[in-house]
Amino acid sequence: MDTARKRLLTGLVGGVVATLVALFLIALLVAYGGIYDIGASSGHTSGARWLTDSTMRSSVQARAPDDPDQAPGPQEIAAGAREYKAMCEHCHGGPGTEPAGWSRGMLPRPPHLTEAAAEWETGEVFWIASNGLKFTGMPSFGEDHDDATLWNIASFVTRLPGMTQEQYDAYGTAHSHGGGDSGAGHHGQEPHGEARP
Ligand code: HEC
Repeated sequence: MDTARKRLLTGLVGGVVATLVALFLIALLVAYGGIYDIGASSGHTSGARWLTDSTMRSSVQARAPDDPDQAPGPQEIAAGAREYKAMCEHCHGGPGTEPAGWSRGMLPRPPHLTEAAAEWETGEVFWIASNGLKFTGMPSFGEDHDDATLWNIASFVTRLPGMTQEQYDAYGTAHSHGGGDSGAGHHGQEPHGEARP
């Protein structure tokens, strides 16, 4: 190797090492220096939001199962509606139904699924409900719910866009369901009483 190429190579390697050291020092400063505002109320920059949202969408698309071959029957959708009202409504709302006030303080803020569900296939909603979404506060319901229940919920969710408030309300609410619920019915209701209409 001639000297010019040798110098170029040493320069390149040196540059890479210096960059890695600088990145490591920045990581240490962020981790221990208290310079990053971790408060949800301070919001995300548009760049951070773009990165997390795009990562979430492509990751879900790559992993979600196909939609089921058989269309769900009315009973399955009604069962999904009851579960949705018990487990999802306080964060995602419903036609004519606002989410709980506290969920508006989450970052990212859970979207109203009445609109946002139009962007998702049934299999994708199933995957999201089953696995949750890292870094967002969207819980994984696969821990304590079987696949059939989650498919019912997913089928209901993809029907939310275009649903009227009357149709939504007609599904009724869930009574006690599994996991240590007090069984009083209004399980999705938040303590501050932003009541349903
Ligand atoms: C504690 C609040 C909370 C609960 C309860 C909750 N979610 Fe979520 N959900 C979130 C958050 C936060 C996100 C992420 C939003 C984002 O990244 O913009 C999310 C995202 C989603 C998305 C992707 C929407 C989009 O376009 O970004 C779907 C679909 C979804 N949730 C379905 C459900 C279903 C179905 C249930 C009930 C089984 C449920 N969620 C319960 C908070 C919640």
